[in-house]
Amino acid sequence: MESFIRTLPKVELHVHIEGTLEPELMFELAQRNQITLPYASVEEARAAYQFEDLQSFLDMYYLGAGVLQTEQDFYDLTWAYLLRCQHDHVMHTEIFFDPQTHTERGIAFQTVMAGMTRALADGEQQLDISSRLILCFLRHLSEAAAFETLAQAMSYQEYIIGVGLDSSERGHPPEKFRRVFEKAHDAGFLTVAHAGEEGPASNIRDALSMLRVSRIDHGVQCTQDPELVRALAESQTPLTVCPLSNVKLRVFEDMADHNLVDLLRQGLCVTINSDDPAYFGGYMTDNFLAVAESFEVTKEEMAAFTTNAIRASFLPDEEKAKLQQRLDHYLQVQLHPIL
Ligand code: ADE
Ligand code: ZN
Repeated sequence: MESFIRTLPKVELHVHIEGTLEPELMFELAQRNQITLPYASVEEARAAYQFEDLQSFLDMYYLGAGVLQTEQDFYDLTWAYLLRCQHDHVMHTEIFFDPQTHTERGIAFQTVMAGMTRALADGEQQLDISSRLILCFLRHLSEAAAFETLAQAMSYQEYIIGVGLDSSERGHPPEKFRRVFEKAHDAGFLTVAHAGEEGPASNIRDALSMLRVSRIDHGVQCTQDPELVRALAESQTPLTVCPLSNVKLRVFEDMADHNLVDLLRQGLCVTINSDDPAYFGGYMTDNFLAVAESFEVTKEEMAAFTTNAIRASFLPDEEKAKLQQRLDHYLQVQLHPIL
């Protein structure tokens, strides 16, 4: 199973580019930009990555993002992530970024976009990894700030396929951004939202009805509401689940308590993703391995996470078909080698 998972073709739908900032690069950029970090060493930074909940993580994550200043910094960050994708056999990735984390510090939206898009173009050309960008509004900031960010995004629609909602879920329900999402829809953006990570199942219902999202990021609290679980199975609404993240942020105490395999078996469109891999101890392969180690799953079930992610992606149908062919070919060779 381990070698099957390592080379299994994968599709990532839930990764925050700022959450891929490894301590080594954080230190390099801090030095390059003459910024003092509150850690004495890479080891000390890693050792500090112990979290009680989402907020305790977010405080450290926003602090780390402070080292990102120039176009080259955003290029280096994105390129390093793409190299991890290559290593993990990720064929396609849909990447979140938090522009407000940077524009609030005086970094231009254009600086962020230029660095990321240059790296993504290189990734497509040199690594054969396709990608899309999804802008996330920080839900702890105001509706007005989200409107301003959306206005900036309008000039980059060629590069930004959709908008999402992240940061502190508690106290910042979907309703707060209903009007922003209406405007984003009108402008032609697709939409997603973090919901039911540590907030209630009602946030999932509200994200679907009020924000009209195509996917729910996390969504694991849906099991509080059996009627909602049935509706998610029926509608095939994708859930972008992040197993290592959920254990690190104590959404589940132990991987064995996680509900994703159960939800998959109930027919929901569940996918596996890495969220903030530099902080949570692993990229895509590590997340797949952690699931396979804690549950009695078949290779077919592990491959179903990729099939679901292909279906749930924001790619055109022809591109989805090509990715599915690559997966089918892999499964043919791995599972039926003599046919
Ligand atoms: N931003 C980065 N990672 C996040 C997560 N897991 N939940 C909400 N906001 C985030
Ligand atoms: Zn997330």
